[in-house]
Amino acid sequence: MINEKVAALLNEQINKEIYSAYLYLDMSNYFDARGLDGFAKWYMVQAREELDHALRIYRYMQDNDSAVTLLAIEQPSRGYDNTLDVLNTALEHEESVTNSIHTIYCEADKQHDLRTMEFLQWFINEQGEEETNARDLITKLRIFANDGKGLYLLNQELGERELWDKKEQGRFLALFYFFMPPNWKNGRIYLSSILRKSILEKFPDMKMRYSFFVTPL
Ligand code: FEO
Repeated sequence: MINEKVAALLNEQINKEIYSAYLYLDMSNYFDARGLDGFAKWYMVQAREELDHALRIYRYMQDNDSAVTLLAIEQPSRGYDNTLDVLNTALEHEESVTNSIHTIYCEADKQHDLRTMEFLQWFINEQGEEETNARDLITKLRIFANDGKGLYLLNQELGERELWDKKEQGRFLALFYFFMPPNWKNGRIYLSSILRKSILEKFPDMKMRYSFFVTPL
């Protein structure tokens, strides 16, 4: 059972994460309406990640016999002046979420709720990454998007973002491959070929070594 005060903060955090999803969906909406489909996709992926954050906390509370109350989600749209305004708002928002996560962690520490502290460690790391991403995006916009061509290229780059980055996909596939039942031969052959391809793309000079590593079926 989670400490009562900590549980109340976690419950609020579910709402904040869903609000984050709503906010990023609104940003995606802003860019879609202006034909910047790469920016729109970047924020759409972000929105889906935020929902995942909310569900992680929801699952943690449920698994620890702690009641969840779903609260109303605030309307996000306040209108934006321009692209930089959106990006700055996203960074400010992530900084506020970081503060919120830190507050829960400190309360968990105060209440000797070690399990929640351990659970929140993932969020603390994730917030570091999210702030970095938001800052990098502002830097890129300032440096590269001073003209139509720069904006076009940045829009293209952002459109390549997927829900899982390539590193995570690789990790997942590798784990899945090694724990797949031995009799799923077709599945193993298929995954083996995907794994080999992605490894060879990443490490072209290590072809022989890794080919051998992923070949046995
Ligand atoms: Fe889940 Fe971006 O905070």
